[in-house]
Amino acid sequence: MTINENEVAKLVAQVLQEMTSGTSTAAPQTQSAAKSACGEIPKTAKVAMMTALKKFEIQEYPIPELGDDDILVKVEGCGVCGTDAHEYKNDPFSLIPVVLGHEGTGEIVKMGKNVKVDSAGKPLNIGDKVVTCMIFKDNPDITMFDLNKQNVGGADVYGLLPDDDIHLNGWYGDYILIRGGSTVFNVSDLDLDSRILIEPCAVLIHAVERAKTTNILRFNSRVVVQGCGPIGLICIAVLRTMGIENIVAVDGNEQRLEFAKRMGADKTVNFMNHKGVDALADAVKDAFGGYYADFAFQCTGSPVAHANIYKFIRNGGGLCELGFFINGGDATINPHFDLCSKEITLVGSWVYTLRDYATTFDFLKRANAIGLPIKELITHRFPLEEMNEALETNLAQKGLKIAYVRKDLI
Ligand SMILES: NC(=O)c1ccc[n+]([C@@H]2O[C@H](COP(=O)([O-])OP(=O)(O)OC[C@H]3O[C@@H](n4cnc5c(N)ncnc54)[C@H](O)[C@@H]3O)[C@@H](O)[C@H]2O)c1
Ligand SMILES: [Zn+2]
Repeated sequence: MTINENEVAKLVAQVLQEMTSGTSTAAPQTQSAAKSACGEIPKTAKVAMMTALKKFEIQEYPIPELGDDDILVKVEGCGVCGTDAHEYKNDPFSLIPVVLGHEGTGEIVKMGKNVKVDSAGKPLNIGDKVVTCMIFKDNPDITMFDLNKQNVGGADVYGLLPDDDIHLNGWYGDYILIRGGSTVFNVSDLDLDSRILIEPCAVLIHAVERAKTTNILRFNSRVVVQGCGPIGLICIAVLRTMGIENIVAVDGNEQRLEFAKRMGADKTVNFMNHKGVDALADAVKDAFGGYYADFAFQCTGSPVAHANIYKFIRNGGGLCELGFFINGGDATINPHFDLCSKEITLVGSWVYTLRDYATTFDFLKRANAIGLPIKELITHRFPLEEMNEALETNLAQKGLKIAYVRKDLI
């Protein structure tokens, strides 16, 4: 049997629609209900434009006419990402002037006449809550439905685009203009905090999918998660929602270790209490009742932590290294002791694919349903006028997840 490309696209859209709609889909919103929810659309929109290093300025621009494939979204909130902090401090991607913010969400207030469904084939209406993912408009080889061809590392995303004559290109604004060729998902059945957390959660869905390719991660696995920042904490929550309960969390911060327990870790190990890697490995083994881990997730950006983690893993075990989104320097391991003689299976993980993004919506619903305190990851909320403070708070490493939230929703 041969299936042509169109049929494949339709099938994938259908599967994704089923994946993302679930049973708890919000009631469809009528256009008139949406109108009253959003109010009148103003003629201009404000953005927090980063005009220099460590400097956001509120600027106001006319809201442009919408093309037939475009969507105008009234922003509700957006997470502050480590990437934004790098941009704010050093502009490594040479984007200034730029409207940052890629972990955003909001409500559709206007749509071009061709817009009918989201990237998963789910209907889109005015009033729906959406998130964006990759933009493929300059890459005709990739359609919205080729979900696994490219991870987001190679694609454009709103919030990391240079400024242009439209200006509403990032989620740090009160409106964003989503152009045709972008991927957009209807996530009306998730609350605002969950929607703000989709992007970092997708990183962990991808990491766990990568881990599963080793065939070592199983229902009853003993799993160590090293690093309990937002990434490690979400990792624990993803494992817990998959039914993995034998989780040991490692960090040097007692408060974060306490949070790790609430996210689903069975035991914790504070590395500050153990001198040297052998003592630390013994503590991890003790926490598992006398066994080393079957599988380990490395969620710190510390090369020393990378070198240490092999000692926590049993012979024949697996490791997913996801802590180095950016270059954090070299790590020294002993290839004989750490890898060969133990026959460790190692996978690296970086960002996510579009399919992982869609899977993340269901993860969040499940995590909320079983009472994991995912939403408590958002510790600080700032209005648009305070983006400088938001980024400074992130750089000062205060709290866990910092977010821009529209003033009336804080
Ligand atoms: N793979 C990806 O696509 C991806 C995406 C986003 C972030 N990341 C990376 O994930 C890492 C974690 O992100 P985050 O936001 O949670 O960062 P974070 O800095 O908030 O958390 C890191 C945690 O690691 C702990 N830690 C440091 N050294 C340790 C050690 N030797 N042993 C145990 N714990 C140690 C710290 O106390 C801290 O709690 C970052 O380095 C980031 O680059 C990767
Ligand atoms: Zn991000």
